Amino acid sequence: GRPAAPRHFLELMDLDAATLRRMLDLGVQAKRGQVPGKPLAGKSVALIFEKPSTRTRVSFEVGIRQLGGDAIVLSSRDMQLGRGETPADTARVLSRYVDAIMLRTDNVAKIRELAEHATIPVINGLTDVSHPCQLMADIMTFEEHRGPIAGQVVAWTGDGNNVAQSFIQAAARFGFTLRLATPPELAPPARLIDWARAEGARIELTTDPQAAVAGARCVVTDTWVSMSDETAQEKVNRHNLLAPYQVNDALLRHAAPDAIVMHCLPAHRGEEITDAVMDGPQSVVFDEAENRLHAQKGVLLWALGLA
Ligand code: CP
Ligand code: NVA
Repeated sequence: GRPAAPRHFLELMDLDAATLRRMLDLGVQAKRGQVPGKPLAGKSVALIFEKPSTRTRVSFEVGIRQLGGDAIVLSSRDMQLGRGETPADTARVLSRYVDAIMLRTDNVAKIRELAEHATIPVINGLTDVSHPCQLMADIMTFEEHRGPIAGQVVAWTGDGNNVAQSFIQAAARFGFTLRLATPPELAPPARLIDWARAEGARIELTTDPQAAVAGARCVVTDTWVSMSDETAQEKVNRHNLLAPYQVNDALLRHAAPDAIVMHCLPAHRGEEITDAVMDGPQSVVFDEAENRLHAQKGVLLWALGLA
């Protein structure tokens, strides 16, 4: 018979709520030291980067090593992928050498092609339209600080970017209300909102950051200029459009008194978030960064069929 389809981790929307919850629980167990032995012993994972990374690179490499596996970190610039070998052929070849592939890419079509032709799991380490590993860490972080996220209100203010789009998918899968305040020009895709609402998600869109944040238990933002938006003209345009969406003390006063503040990092201090908020008592951004390590262990254990 045909071999079972690999357990890809491409988009939160591809997976059901129970599967995602199981992965998250595995990540929590890993964090608590409750994953015994070296479950990845004898396994190799290729980590491919088409774009820079600090957290994703180090948390995957260290996490794989802590689980007893080997990580091979690759820059697409040093691979034939960077000079025209197709993602499909790259997938066919790497499937003969390693046990899983993580890819960070500027084009979601490449990871879809890679996954379609790989016989091993493919993990999304950020695309132009998604960042699901970040969301696993973000849900873990919220729940550590404030308990179950289902039914809570989370406010996103800023660009309707890749991380925002994964938040929309997470709202559908983890059952929280998501209010997004973005300039109209930078709103997330209407099709994605329609999908999430059809799945039963509560998604509210506004252009007013104060309205989005009002009473929220969690306030989230991200850079004004993502890695896929780095032309000079785009930068100017985005700074103008996004200045009113900054997370600062005045905005935070509209949130619930015990609201936490998240940011996937890297932060551009003084732009999308002030120093006072980022270094203030409501910020959990470094717990969030740490949780990439733990949450991704849950993703790896699930993807490799080890739990
Ligand atoms: N948050 C995040 O993915 O950071 P890096 O770009 O440093 O990997
Ligand atoms: N939205 C940001 C996230 C970086 C982790 C980017 O894509 O550059």
